[in-house]
Amino acid sequence: MKPLPEPFKVKVVEPIYQTTEQERKEIIEQAGYNVFKIPAEKVYIDLLTDSGTSAMSDRQWSGLVVGDEAYAGSRSFYHLKEVVQEITGLEYVIPTHQGRMAEFLLFSNLVKEGDIVPNNTHFDTTRANVEYQKAVAVDVVIKEAKDPALEYPFKGNIDINKLKSLIEHYGPERIPLVMITITNNSGGGQPVSMHNIRETKELLSKYGIPLFFDACRFAENAYFIKMRESEYKNRTIPEIVREMFSYVDGCTMSAKKDGLVNIGGFIALRDKELYQKITTMMILMEGFPTYGGLAGRDMEAIALGLKEVLNEAYLEYRINHVKYLGNLLIEADIPIIKPTGGHAVYIDAKSFLPHIPQEQLPAQTLTVELYLKGGIRAVEIGTLMFPPTKDENGNLKYTDMELVRLAIPRRVYSYAHLEYVADTVATIWKYAEKLKGYKIIYQPRFLRHFTAILEPL
Ligand code: F0G
Repeated sequence: MKPLPEPFKVKVVEPIYQTTEQERKEIIEQAGYNVFKIPAEKVYIDLLTDSGTSAMSDRQWSGLVVGDEAYAGSRSFYHLKEVVQEITGLEYVIPTHQGRMAEFLLFSNLVKEGDIVPNNTHFDTTRANVEYQKAVAVDVVIKEAKDPALEYPFKGNIDINKLKSLIEHYGPERIPLVMITITNNSGGGQPVSMHNIRETKELLSKYGIPLFFDACRFAENAYFIKMRESEYKNRTIPEIVREMFSYVDGCTMSAKKDGLVNIGGFIALRDKELYQKITTMMILMEGFPTYGGLAGRDMEAIALGLKEVLNEAYLEYRINHVKYLGNLLIEADIPIIKPTGGHAVYIDAKSFLPHIPQEQLPAQTLTVELYLKGGIRAVEIGTLMFPPTKDENGNLKYTDMELVRLAIPRRVYSYAHLEYVADTVATIWKYAEKLKGYKIIYQPRFLRHFTAILEPL
């Protein structure tokens, strides 16, 4: 695959530095073999996340100066509100400092103890926010999603039959909302089809259950719909996005992804009563409803970013840039989730390190080795992130997939950077059978992957 030229040129650069293997050995040991604890300056290529790591455009930077810092009624709030309304058709817009606060505020007002919240696949903070309300987060993604090597166009889809059984089993009164994560981050950055969104909505309408998007990567999802769902091939991205949102009652959004900014998020809603409840509560936790934990300049940058992200030349570049890395790995026979996702390439660590059992953290083992060998920071999405649960008989049940995510920041790294990453993975692949696993020596109660300390076995 030939690289597709970037639809932008570079105006400001930020130098990055490589460390030696010896230095990295000491750094990772001091970090307790947890890449979240490595100082970013000691990372050469940082693929930890695509969240808040985008390069803003010159227009967005100028928006920072234009931003209105009024406490109440900031012009930048009205700009943001107008853009979100135009893009989504959702009337009520509540800014938040990032996505997880949007989740917290929404769930605090909708979800109560003992409730069931289905999602194609909950992201870690989404799951934690559901569980914090003492409710149960259930993933209802289609079975195709769990086979990493299977090529399937919409691996993020909701399993409609599973969702229907769940509703019938627990009763609609125990299901305060259903969420669809677009694209499905924890399942490989895989898109959800328009058909599936529509079908989910139709099912939920019968029971009066509201549908919400976890909308972080809505524009990337829309591009996949255009490419892979034939009836949408002649529709514009804004038209597709507008239709996607026409099926939902609201969304939570981390603007740190498809908002093309470094901080920010929002909730958008159709229901005035829910809007009033949330805005009353948020003054206590997050800020006045016209700034919601953000500076006026941040809201200005989000408003501009949300328009830029809908540009088709940008999305074509973005999806193909990520695919370029995916293809290099496929050519080197590296087992990855296929097809390549929208924001990241996911290595299947169960196949990469079949000799390391899940309790010895194979995906984390590869994550550590990527840093040691190449100064590359990836993130584990496996047993460290999602600890095993106990079934009725007390047996430990491990997460289905053991993944290493190489998340690509937007408009940041070149094709040569991606080639360097692919070469490093291919080098490790040659001696993979020599790698040994890790054990956890410290872990907190929630979200253990952020702060756990490990030791090599
Ligand atoms: N939902 C999804 C699908 C996400 O990917 C994230 C963040 C959030 C919600 C929370 O948003 O970070 O603004 O509070 N994902 C980042 C990641 C952290 O690396 O995938 P936030």
